[in-house]
Amino acid sequence: MLTMPPSARVAKKWTTVDPIEECRQALHKKAFAVHHPLAGHPLFSIEALTAAAERAAKRSGDLYADVGDLSLTDKWGSVPAPTMPIPEIIERIETAGAWVVLKHVEVDPAYKRLLDEYEAFVREIAGPEGSKLLTNAEMLVFITSPNRKTPYHFDAEVNFLVQITGSKNLWVCDPNDRSVTTEEEIEQYYGVSISAGTYKPHAEEVARQFTLHPGDAVHIPTHGAHWVQNHNEVSVSLSLNMEFPNWLQADVYRANHYLRRLGLSPRSPGQSIVADRSKAAMIHAMRAARKNARRLLRR
Ligand SMILES: [Fe+2]
Repeated sequence: MLTMPPSARVAKKWTTVDPIEECRQALHKKAFAVHHPLAGHPLFSIEALTAAAERAAKRSGDLYADVGDLSLTDKWGSVPAPTMPIPEIIERIETAGAWVVLKHVEVDPAYKRLLDEYEAFVREIAGPEGSKLLTNAEMLVFITSPNRKTPYHFDAEVNFLVQITGSKNLWVCDPNDRSVTTEEEIEQYYGVSISAGTYKPHAEEVARQFTLHPGDAVHIPTHGAHWVQNHNEVSVSLSLNMEFPNWLQADVYRANHYLRRLGLSPRSPGQSIVADRSKAAMIHAMRAARKNARRLLRR
């Protein structure tokens, strides 16, 4: 288990724990720890976040909450939506048993400035070439009740989980371990449902465990399965993430999903540049055709 030394938690700026060249090699492949300057920032107080949640509620799809005692194996969206207004859940977060997500808080310029600092840091890690592949920096805020779990899942983004208040354990699996995340699950993630990942009993044995305190952050690689156990106090944490272009992986996996449904065994992305480009072009053409069809139907 990795626990950061307390002295390292008061970083004045984003810094890597290991040398930056090592982090560049690990980016998108392995989890690694960094430190950040956002712990104690007034924009992440419960009062500021309640106001941010009220603004997010006016934007479609930018505010989510679930309430209940979730297990590691529960799927995203399997818990019924809460009946209480979300700003009220935040006020009662100490006892609500809730997980609240505010998306795209960077529409507010004050939060955007903090996101820009993160983006500059990740681009420095990625280097000039790697940086060209990263787009659409985004800030999500998680406000979590004591002892809540975030179930097992994986994501498409280049993600950093950033601890602001409270503490938690995080388990991250190797994104290339196909005994944990299968090729079919990744294809289904892009082609069917973002809940495609299913917990395997041996995942905990092979996962790397981190303990995050305020000032700590961990890079969670794309497709790296992970889950979270909050400690016994309220947690405020961020997902700061960036995206790869669709042609690099997402559209290749989508094409593979269709090909597998036809009974074929498609090659995974990265094995053939020509095959990857053809598959991405096919999905791009299907997307354009669908868009055109919708436009014609509206006339
Ligand atoms: Fe995640």
